[in-house]
Amino acid sequence: MSLITAQNVHRGYTIGKKRIEVLRGIDLSIEAGEKIFLCGPSGAGKTTLMYTLAGLERPEQGTVTVEGTNLYGISKNKQAKLRNATMSYIFQNFNLMPELTALENVMIPALIGGRDAAAAAKTVLERVGLGHRLDHLPAELSGGEQQRVSIARALINKPKLVFADEPTGNLDSKNGDQIMQLLIELTTEDNTALVVVTHDTSLATLGDRTYTVVDGTIEQQVSL
Ligand SMILES: Nc1ncnc2c1ncn2[C@@H]1O[C@H](COP(=O)(O)OP(=O)(O)O)[C@@H](O)[C@H]1O
Ligand SMILES: [Mg+2]
Repeated sequence: MSLITAQNVHRGYTIGKKRIEVLRGIDLSIEAGEKIFLCGPSGAGKTTLMYTLAGLERPEQGTVTVEGTNLYGISKNKQAKLRNATMSYIFQNFNLMPELTALENVMIPALIGGRDAAAAAKTVLERVGLGHRLDHLPAELSGGEQQRVSIARALINKPKLVFADEPTGNLDSKNGDQIMQLLIELTTEDNTALVVVTHDTSLATLGDRTYTVVDGTIEQQVSL
């Protein structure tokens, strides 16, 4: 059984009388521990695809199955539980709570999970190299450090799958490379699957598979 499977996923948007088809029959399966890169031009539908896979955007047609459960065929409550138990999301703009410290930001998902949140948050912040920044507010951290905090927050509940939507998009190339390496290294250690949206096609060799989103479908890049 695959970790997550999308079958014939369609999603478009209607604004006024105008209709755009964004996803036009996507099929994709991701196995435990796999690292997948999604490329494609701006507006191609990469974020929409990630949202549908992550339970954040219901497909108009087709299904998304997470470990055998139809993600959009269960109650909101069950869906939230399934998502919390299996996946997490990293955003381009970090999405940290500005009034909370690094430690507190990372604790939030663990509080929901009912574990010893502070100790777990400290451990995972040490893994991302921020053991010395526990009490800093996001505004007191560099962009690269803020993204490390959001990686720690994404990993604290030991998800099976991490989505990262242009996680290096707001960073310079040196920090961006370091963040991408860290994300791959930590998810490899944990055997966590990873789906990353990136513009940097040179990263393709770091992953198991690379897809380009184009014309509402996905094409697998074949490396020579
Ligand atoms: N909530 C929405 N309402 C209307 N149009 C949307 C919405 N979300 C995305 N779109 C449109 O869908 C297309 C794909 O968007 P998106 O998935 O964000 O692309 P990408 O992440 O590849 O840049 C774009 O044309 C965008 O404007
Ligand atoms: Mg996007």
